[in-house]
Amino acid sequence: MVKMPAEVQKTINKQSPVPIATAAADGNPNVVFVGFLRIVDDETIHIADNFFDKTAANLSENPRVSFVVYDGEAKKSFQIKGSVEVATSGPVYDDVKVWVHAKSKALPAKAAVIMHVEEIYDAMYGPNAGKQIA
Ligand SMILES: Cc1cc2nc3c(=O)[nH]c(=O)nc-3n(C[C@H](O)[C@H](O)[C@H](O)COP(=O)(O)O)c2cc1C
Repeated sequence: MVKMPAEVQKTINKQSPVPIATAAADGNPNVVFVGFLRIVDDETIHIADNFFDKTAANLSENPRVSFVVYDGEAKKSFQIKGSVEVATSGPVYDDVKVWVHAKSKALPAKAAVIMHVEEIYDAMYGPNAGKQIA
């Protein structure tokens, strides 16, 4: 796992929704927007599965995600990749359910996706585009 630098965390915190990419075992890619994404510590992100369909299927076959964020004011963009665990019970799931239901009790809070950050890249256009930063 790697630690997300402060500028990466700030950029993530400013963006919603966040486009999340997954891939099936055969490599077929998929991308969805998620509003429920939050940083829980320097190395970990929680995502709430309310409506995941192809995304949930992909995570069961290939438990990895990538997402990208962009701050147009600060002119910063980062690509974050990592492995995930999916929880449908237990303390992390309970926390995620409270977070989701604080927004709306009507949301299903089907699962908590726990992302362990493993790679971070500079995704801003320019000379550092694509360079790994953590
Ligand atoms: C603005 C926006 C925010 C969304 N936030 C979430 C979310 O936090 N969690 C979730 O499960 N689905 C969310 N969705 C729904 C997913 O983007 C997507 O429709 C769902 O996962 C089904 O697509 P899939 O079959 O590719 O997984 C959101 C959609 C939009 C448009």
